[in-house]
Amino acid sequence: MCGIIGYVGPRKVVPVILGGLHKLEYRGYDSAGMAILEKGEVVVVKRRGKLKELEEAVTGIDYTATTGMGHTRWATHGKVEDRNAHPHVDCKGQLAVIHNGIIENYEALRQDLVKRGHVFVSDTDSEVIAHLMEDQVAAGADLLDAARVTALQLDGAFAFLVLGKAFPGRIVAVRKLSPLVLGVGEGEMVLGSDTPALLDYTHRIIPLHDGDVVEINEQGFAFYALDDGARLERAPMMVQWNASAAEKQGFKHFMLKEIHEQPVVIRDTLYSRIDIDTGHVDLQEFQGEAVPKRVSIVAAGTSYHAARVGKYLLEELARIPTDVSFSSEYRYGRPIVQPGTLGIAVTQSGETIDTLAALRLQRSLGAKVVAITNRPESTVARESEISFVTQAGIEIGVAATKSFMAQLIAFYLIALYFGQRNGVLDSDSSVRYASQLSSLSQKCEQVLEYAGMMETIARKFYKVHDMIYVGRGVNYPMALEGALKMKEISYIHAEGYAAGELKHGPIALLDQDVPVVGILPQGPLYEKVYSNLQESIARDSPLVVLGDKKDRRAQAIATDFIPMPTVDELFSPVVCALPLQLLAYYTADAKGLDVDQPRNLAKSVTVE
Ligand code: AGP
Repeated sequence: MCGIIGYVGPRKVVPVILGGLHKLEYRGYDSAGMAILEKGEVVVVKRRGKLKELEEAVTGIDYTATTGMGHTRWATHGKVEDRNAHPHVDCKGQLAVIHNGIIENYEALRQDLVKRGHVFVSDTDSEVIAHLMEDQVAAGADLLDAARVTALQLDGAFAFLVLGKAFPGRIVAVRKLSPLVLGVGEGEMVLGSDTPALLDYTHRIIPLHDGDVVEINEQGFAFYALDDGARLERAPMMVQWNASAAEKQGFKHFMLKEIHEQPVVIRDTLYSRIDIDTGHVDLQEFQGEAVPKRVSIVAAGTSYHAARVGKYLLEELARIPTDVSFSSEYRYGRPIVQPGTLGIAVTQSGETIDTLAALRLQRSLGAKVVAITNRPESTVARESEISFVTQAGIEIGVAATKSFMAQLIAFYLIALYFGQRNGVLDSDSSVRYASQLSSLSQKCEQVLEYAGMMETIARKFYKVHDMIYVGRGVNYPMALEGALKMKEISYIHAEGYAAGELKHGPIALLDQDVPVVGILPQGPLYEKVYSNLQESIARDSPLVVLGDKKDRRAQAIATDFIPMPTVDELFSPVVCALPLQLLAYYTADAKGLDVDQPRNLAKSVTVE
């Protein structure tokens, strides 16, 4: 999942590239590079390591180029070394390529190219593109045709950009599965693997579709079909985000800023969708749609945890049988889609390739598919019949926080909506649930007021190697999510379990060095979870409890007690999400780790 930017226009391109790569660094950050057309030559500068290595390499050199492209890498093939960084060039150094994705047939292509005399300098799959382009241009093809014919030889998921010495002022891009967006400025064109990189230049964007080829030049842009080269018409859309959304605004990390944005995200996602007085939920997205007989949800990572909460809500509030699958499992299985099934793809980025493939499979099996996504311009949104766009705004931190919150709120709204539609919920219940929903934003603000408590707890436990998270019912997925947050940014081995499962094996892990984080809301499962936590104490595990602020019993057994605002158990996932996120955040920060760009991760997993 690499960061890509390309520019043609009046500006000096090096600052444009570096600024764009900064905004895309969350997509991949183990090396960075650029290729520019400088005084008639293709100049390539690339370095392993963070973007600042590249910045230092070009500091003090007054490049005048106004056409160029840049890349930050998340390594798939080839170790993190200068020679494996992008761009890659052909044998003569006259064509440069940057690529995001995986070329699945690169070995066969490479062998054939080597047989025909090409010399490779990297271990990457991407370099084959440069040499295939070289053959095409040597045979007289124009940059556009060379890129298109090259792409037709590639299997796999990819988005690549090419420029060449013989083609001044031009960049050609091809998209197949991996995301790419065109920014249409005034007299300047910007290509990026994600929207944030474009916002300094324009809010008019055109997401490339699968199989699109686009050329940008001083005259503007032109789209062509990959398969036959026919001209295509693509209309720009406006994005509302401003560039400042992709800034930290005084917070130490994007993740901390985005955790603190959640009360607003709750309000924005609820806004105009629920009447607090009557409890009536109105979802324009589902206007005219029948209430589904079944729901089948596909998702990955944190979005999968939101989906698991969604399952609980759909079955509890709307009595609709619901199943949830990891996208990567669903797409390779033989799922059965019964008539009347509504498919739901939950994906913040809208570009997770496993979820896109699972969505396509659901549709091929006859399901109508809804996307719950934060990116209206994404591929998943485009390929779904219905898009429920969450109002979380751009999320830069690799660890999903506010987008997860928005997904939870989306599921509360959808479950209430269908529950009202199929008569499961009467008006009293609707009013009560609406009242709960409308209080959540303010209750999350209360939790944020004592964020420092999570920092104190984190500083007690940040040296541990293992942690166990437990919850029941609607909070079992929250135990999974709390553990994932801790894993992915602090690198502590944390696992989430259904609290009732502890005694079926995981309890063997417990001792004084393995803290247990227990989610203990008031509700019908309270005593069951309470006794599970007692079992943990009996094994000397330190116990961190998220419990109702008035719960004296929980405070008595906890090593550290995190007081939660009083909510119905059904809504407790919303308020306990924040302390779980903050615990992970402060633990990673105490360890001095790069919270926004954890090792080995990327914000959007667009490779399989
Ligand atoms: C969440 O913190 C992770 N960054 C990751 O698990 C993420 O949720 C997953 O890759 C799914 O991404 P998506 O929501 O964009 O599909």
